[in-house]
Amino acid sequence: MSYAESAAAKAAAYREGGSRTILAIESSCDETAAAVVRDGREVSGSAVHTQIPIHRLYGGVVPEIASRNHTERIGAVVRAALADANTELSQVDAVAVTYRPGLIGALLVGVGYAKGLAYSLGLPLIAVDHITGHIAANYLTYPELEPPFICLVASGGHSHIVRVNDYTDFTLIGRTRDDAAGEAFDKVARALGLPYPGGPELERIAREGNREAYRLHTAFNEGEGFDFSFSGIKTAVVNIIHNTEQKGETVDRAGVAASFQKCVVDALTKKSVRAAVQSGLSVLALAGGVSANQSLRESMQSACDHAGIRFCRPDMRFCTDNASMIGCQAHYELMAGNVAGLDIDASAASFLNQ
Ligand code: KG4
Ligand code: ZN
Repeated sequence: MSYAESAAAKAAAYREGGSRTILAIESSCDETAAAVVRDGREVSGSAVHTQIPIHRLYGGVVPEIASRNHTERIGAVVRAALADANTELSQVDAVAVTYRPGLIGALLVGVGYAKGLAYSLGLPLIAVDHITGHIAANYLTYPELEPPFICLVASGGHSHIVRVNDYTDFTLIGRTRDDAAGEAFDKVARALGLPYPGGPELERIAREGNREAYRLHTAFNEGEGFDFSFSGIKTAVVNIIHNTEQKGETVDRAGVAASFQKCVVDALTKKSVRAAVQSGLSVLALAGGVSANQSLRESMQSACDHAGIRFCRPDMRFCTDNASMIGCQAHYELMAGNVAGLDIDASAASFLNQ
């Protein structure tokens, strides 16, 4: 049997309800991850190797170092996920991989590895868009959650308000005009002298600060549209830091962090809740690395309670990059007949950017 015949037969058996075990791989940025997902929503095993300590030395992700480290680690990470799931390669029914968006060299490591595995095992290859994977992290957390719903995706590279029409059908409602929310967190944290990645560090020092210490806001984010703009807030913060230092005064770092965080959280909350209310849908979900932020989770929970909408957010372990969410989305792609050819290429942009 040729590879194409074998993969098609396995994909058909999967859809018909046979054994449903997906091995998923994620390498789009600075985490090398693998997971074994059964029946779409059950994570039987997972492994994540983070490169954060390496990139921290440079204050941000160095793409070339990321690719090399993925190459060194991917084999061990896949073996660790299989061992965690007590699963042999022979029991896997499909191989899934993130193929966009992300750092192209980093993505290519996962895509190349997944192609090799799929080909050698005669299994279907499922190509997953990272953004849709983040959205799927909510299905792992809420086993009964089904589309349609509105989702705010806030990560290092994206700030999107998405209407999830169905598992594989999405409409972009709003997006950032400049920096992504996570990117703004990282840049402001850097200006405050905090290590990479700045989001969690900034959140930590913001706990001790007065969020009314500085009045930061952008008229754009107070407008009626659904697009965001975060670069103005970031510039305002950098100016505050410079002006204070020039006067020989000490910067109230916790106050800056708390005021900045409040400004971003308010904008994300207001626009996404309004999008949910106007859509007439009763669920608003949160996704992407910034969904780990407690202040954002609390703000969205209370705004949703107020608006009479159900709020969903991923378990903390599914917020930042992982392969479990990729395996979950891959299940729905496979069920919808979306199987990739071995000629699939990695791409730096999400379909939501095209
Ligand atoms: O989804 P993710 O792990 O990678 C991308 O797809 O980009 O998101 C990483 C981003 C980084 O910008 C990081 O600073 C931010 O998510 N982040 C946070 C928090 N944890 C991660 N931002 C604010 N508060 C957090 N607790
Ligand atoms: Zn991500």
